[in-house]
Amino acid sequence: MKKNKILVIGSSGQIGTDLCLSLERIYGAENIICSDLNPPKEKNHRKNFIKLDVLDNEMLTKKVKEENISEIYLLAASLSALAEKNVLISWELNMNSLINVLELARKKIIKKIFWPSSIAVFGPDSPKLNTPQNTTLNPSSIYGITKLAGEKLCQYYYDKFDVDVRSLRLPGLIGWRSLAGGGTTDYAVEIFYHALKNNDYTCFLSKETILPMMYMDDAIEAILKIMTTKKENIKIRTSYNISAVSFTPKELEKQIKIYFPNFNVKFKPDYRQKIADSWPDSIDDQEAKVDWGWKAKFNLEKLTSEMFKNLSN
Ligand code: SER
Repeated sequence: MKKNKILVIGSSGQIGTDLCLSLERIYGAENIICSDLNPPKEKNHRKNFIKLDVLDNEMLTKKVKEENISEIYLLAASLSALAEKNVLISWELNMNSLINVLELARKKIIKKIFWPSSIAVFGPDSPKLNTPQNTTLNPSSIYGITKLAGEKLCQYYYDKFDVDVRSLRLPGLIGWRSLAGGGTTDYAVEIFYHALKNNDYTCFLSKETILPMMYMDDAIEAILKIMTTKKENIKIRTSYNISAVSFTPKELEKQIKIYFPNFNVKFKPDYRQKIADSWPDSIDDQEAKVDWGWKAKFNLEKLTSEMFKNLSN
């Protein structure tokens, strides 16, 4: 019998770049199929790369059957800032990609799904501090609306068809292997590249904008952990709050200045400020801690030092 394989959709993006490496290390590169519209940057790490459009349902189903895929990590999405500029395209990508993958599980072609939600499901009338798992969810960005609708779909497919889909409400992610793209929290990645090149940085959010953030290694660990937890321990089938650290652009600048004392940041808020202002300052992740033992390892000091150490190599 052919061995079951894992398919990562959106493998060349910010999360995919890191996640594929970890999955290849754990399960063996021969068991991981990486797919994206764009080829990966580090070709040597992607033994099995295929070009795949998740919206092409026929091709998706064909590949999943051909490769004997049992698990899908669906990472292809249009992020918050980009989505505001392309409302319909983003709705189509974010929703139809999820429907296509959920349907594969409903038809028992695959067994398990990971799909990331976001802190963008919260809105201006959600509590700002230690935002709880269950609270008012009135997102004001189109990205947040797609994530909230996606969470509801996940719950529905679980309740009605026993589809094993697992999800995390990810905060802004900071990693060194790839740049972010199209998000409201992207400044927190870009700023490191500017500091290393001795360039000043113009931040598109105000200096006091506090947002929940996470180092990429923590995010990857959370994804791997929720996917390998026993099914009965996954009690939330919309999406779990998870949290690591919260900081403002000014606090990040201060931390960077420990390494580059002459580094300077100017603040010129643009349309992304409104999105950021609608999101929480910090997140309460009790449920993830209790249900599957989640705990973040990286604070601001540690993530800054890791970013510079890895980026300068
Ligand atoms: N980092 C994401 C964004 O800014 C949040 O999910 O869109």
